[in-house]
Amino acid sequence: MQLPAERRTYGPLSDSLPESGEEPDKVLDEVCARMVEEGFHVPSANYFGLMNPTPTYMGVVGEALVAALNPQLATLARSQLASKIELETVRWVGERVGWNGPFSGTFTSGGNEANFSGMAMALAAKFPQAVEDGVASIGGRAVAYASAESHHSLDKSAGLLGIGRKGLRRIPLNAKLQLDCRALEEAIRQDLAAGARPFSVIATAGTTNCGTVDELEDLSATCHRHALWLHVDGAYGAAAIFSDAHRHRVKGIELADSITIDPHKWLAMPFAAGIVLTRHPEVLERTFAVAAPYMPKAAGAKLPDNSRISAQWTRRMNSLKLWITLRVHGRKAYEELIDRQMGLALDFAEWVRASDSFELVAAPVLPIVAFQWKHRNLSPEQRAAIHNGIVEEITGDGRRWISETQVNGRSAMRMMVISYLTEERHLGELEAALERAAKRLSKETADVEL
Ligand SMILES: Cc1ncc(COP(=O)(O)O)c(C=O)c1O
Repeated sequence: MQLPAERRTYGPLSDSLPESGEEPDKVLDEVCARMVEEGFHVPSANYFGLMNPTPTYMGVVGEALVAALNPQLATLARSQLASKIELETVRWVGERVGWNGPFSGTFTSGGNEANFSGMAMALAAKFPQAVEDGVASIGGRAVAYASAESHHSLDKSAGLLGIGRKGLRRIPLNAKLQLDCRALEEAIRQDLAAGARPFSVIATAGTTNCGTVDELEDLSATCHRHALWLHVDGAYGAAAIFSDAHRHRVKGIELADSITIDPHKWLAMPFAAGIVLTRHPEVLERTFAVAAPYMPKAAGAKLPDNSRISAQWTRRMNSLKLWITLRVHGRKAYEELIDRQMGLALDFAEWVRASDSFELVAAPVLPIVAFQWKHRNLSPEQRAAIHNGIVEEITGDGRRWISETQVNGRSAMRMMVISYLTEERHLGELEAALERAAKRLSKETADVEL
């Protein structure tokens, strides 16, 4: 999957800018060989890493078509079919959410941009004047709420939107590692009493570390009580809507005002493909539409120009790969993928439960398993050092990949089933490698008082 640890380097390449060209065969042979030999292969059955999938074949074909035809998504007039395909794909996804009233949405470069768009809409919904006059016109500090485990793209967005990163209140977790609804109520109450202007709650459906899903129905009720916009960051977990058997895992997602879902995570699309959806099409336009006289106009247009509903202007067609995959394989293929990956991850969690060396950090809700070394009387530093040692041992030969992270401030190891190539035997091999690492560690630490 990648070079063994001792052969990995991270410095820059040093070739100078070519003045004249070389034979394409030679260049392609060289780059292909090096990308394979020296690359880090996300599309591997043994990639148990972050939310990066093995792309579907149809997705790869779709990408090549888009690169060659280069449709310009900014205006409907210059991308009739491309725009229609894009909006149809958005409609298919929105219908799976369970929305049957009006809704809209747009493809993005990924979850970061989709979350930014959701927060920008939330701000424009509550404070319409801020779109033109800026956050200074709000008359109080604008604040939004998300859990301590929500993704860091939200901090970036808060900074970029001008509410400041401190304007994103990080709410503590409950025992299930979800946003604690009571702590949220208390934070809103304190902010209101201090003259701040709350505008949004950002729930997570599938946290990066553990795959936890916040209590979406309760958060929706809180949002109603305080007239706040509910954005659900389902960059990873919202894809569960494609499985009839597992959609209950993101129950309540249909109550959101806007949703992030990244096809380049669980839906196995090549980068880049994110989507932001909203039940408030008018707010999407309010947030992003800018008139530009030079833009070509489509006579009798029934669909919006994409530049009016997106943070981007010129835009790549990120939808074709998903549309083609759905046309060729159908929604049920995703159902199968999701069901199988859930099953594999739950089996791995059972193995952890039965292990003498490891234990779960949380019961898995989605195919992400966070686990830790079982010894209890460890300092946080000792625990992190042990976890990092195990991860290095597992990943050292370059054949498989898991990671170390912090869950609610405590070191944990983390694996997820994300490649459609992963089968039971790959998990068996991972388990055997973890056993070997555990045996070595137990031996090494036998004489040390832990
Ligand atoms: C829960 C969550 N939201 C948002 C993002 C950001 O998505 P992207 O990397 O596609 O911009 C990630 C990335 O892993 C994520 O895990």
